[in-house]
Amino acid sequence: MAITSYLLHGPRVALRHVRCQDYDELTALAQESAEMLRPWLGARDHTPEAFESYLERIEQPTHEGFVICLNGTGAIVGGININNIVRGTLQSGTVGYTAYASTTGRGYMTEGLRLVLQLAFGQLALHRLEANIQPDNTSSLNLIKRLGFQREGYSTAFQFINGEWRDHERWAITAEMQRRSGSDPNTS
Ligand SMILES: CC(C)(COP(=O)(O)OP(=O)(O)OC[C@H]1O[C@@H](n2cnc3c(N)ncnc32)[C@H](O)[C@@H]1OP(=O)(O)O)[C@@H](O)C(=O)NCCC(=O)NCCS
Repeated sequence: MAITSYLLHGPRVALRHVRCQDYDELTALAQESAEMLRPWLGARDHTPEAFESYLERIEQPTHEGFVICLNGTGAIVGGININNIVRGTLQSGTVGYTAYASTTGRGYMTEGLRLVLQLAFGQLALHRLEANIQPDNTSSLNLIKRLGFQREGYSTAFQFINGEWRDHERWAITAEMQRRSGSDPNTS
């Protein structure tokens, strides 16, 4: 029997890397959630080839791909990526994340993103994480506010989604801010 190696555990969910065996489960979740995800992420390609490209991308040192799983059953309840990792004097990355229609609104993403912050500012030795969010994406704004991100600015025509260049708010958190906000379980 395959042993699942989790990177970190919270009270209800655990964090692990995405793996090739996740294709069927992630595809089913994304398909059931298409209506919920489309306004914010655009229409997505769920072919095996697109998933293979995603796996290749997250094998690069510039990207990390995680799933959030329920403790106990291991069922996937969310996905979080750290994209565009820059080392050197920046040590920064950009987070992207998704819940699913059957799992949203239960606090799993708050717990899961908190684990990602813990990993990013600990083992991955990053110093800063950014999130870019459309101004009317209230659930996403609520999520990052809860975790101590601060609003830094407004990026006009930032990302091409659903046929238009969409404005985004830019939010960020540093390792020091996370420690001060008390989100780091190592300090509590
Ligand atoms: C953004 C997104 C990931 C947020 O997910 P979420 O399900 O709201 O986040 P959580 O799992 O942490 O749930 C938090 C919500 O559950 C509620 N909740 C219910 N039961 C809870 C419990 N037992 N514990 C904690 N929170 C609970 C919280 O009050 C909160 O609601 P609020 O945002 O109205 O305050 C999700 O809306 C999503 O996938 N959206 C589409 C994709 C997207 O926008 N991605 C980001 C692009 S920038």
